[in-house]
Amino acid sequence: MADALPTDPSVIRSYAVDTAAFYDRFCGPESHSARIKEAIGELIDRYHLRGLDIFGIGSGASQEEFWLWKLGGNRLTIADIDEHGGIEPSLKVLPPGDLNFHVGDAERFLAGNPTAKYDCIYVSGLTPDEKRRYAILWGPTPPTLLKRIFRRWPKSVDPFHPLVMAAARHLRPGGLLIVQSYAFGINAQRNRNFLPAAARQLSENGMTLIEAHSWVPYRSINLFVGRMNGGPALDLGPALTTFHGRGEPKQPIERTWPR
Ligand SMILES: C[S@@+](CC[C@H](N)C(=O)[O-])C[C@H]1O[C@@H](n2cnc3c(N)ncnc32)[C@H](O)[C@@H]1O
Repeated sequence: MADALPTDPSVIRSYAVDTAAFYDRFCGPESHSARIKEAIGELIDRYHLRGLDIFGIGSGASQEEFWLWKLGGNRLTIADIDEHGGIEPSLKVLPPGDLNFHVGDAERFLAGNPTAKYDCIYVSGLTPDEKRRYAILWGPTPPTLLKRIFRRWPKSVDPFHPLVMAAARHLRPGGLLIVQSYAFGINAQRNRNFLPAAARQLSENGMTLIEAHSWVPYRSINLFVGRMNGGPALDLGPALTTFHGRGEPKQPIERTWPR
């Protein structure tokens, strides 16, 4: 039988490579790593992300996930379709190590590992999740001025992609679902139904929306944190002063949930 095409996302190809070597390959000094390091450091402190099994969906170059590994001593499993084909060639030649990188569709990967459990699912700018929100809010074409004025997120529509929710079912009790949205984000101040809809969707899946933050000057850049019900009592660390870590200078943020 002929080999599957290297870009076929339905076939999972798994690699275990050196995490630091992977980061060095993709994230040079030009990629704002100090700012990202600071943002992920705060995330680790606030949500106690240390020594955990973290599943990254669509992590790409993994410039945030790297710091979860480096600063938090977390174990990383990543699934990414490698949509531009720039990652897998390096995975084939990097030295072996503890970064478990699976090239292929994340939902397909999880379906093949039905008993896998994680303490944290980390999602940042996942293409289908971001595109779906954009399509729901604006439709297939770029929004007209009228749409921008009148169109709002519908109350009954789920904010998170089914793929994200499928992954969340692999969380242990008390496990965290962290979703960062920066590509086609929703302004939750203008779209008053959005965060209640997120809380509802998570609740219907046995979870609680514990916090949301947005950048003050760019309200469509958001960080949502949900938690699988159960597990030890929630104990939040120091308030966040930053997240996302891209863009200069450091942008002010605001907690938008709970209100
Ligand atoms: C905009 S990039 C974000 C990369 C990284 N998380 C970040 O924030 O810099 C979106 C990523 O989603 C991945 N992706 C798209 N569909 C996917 C799927 N079904 N399963 C896993 N990854 C997917 C792409 O390959 C790409 O790496």
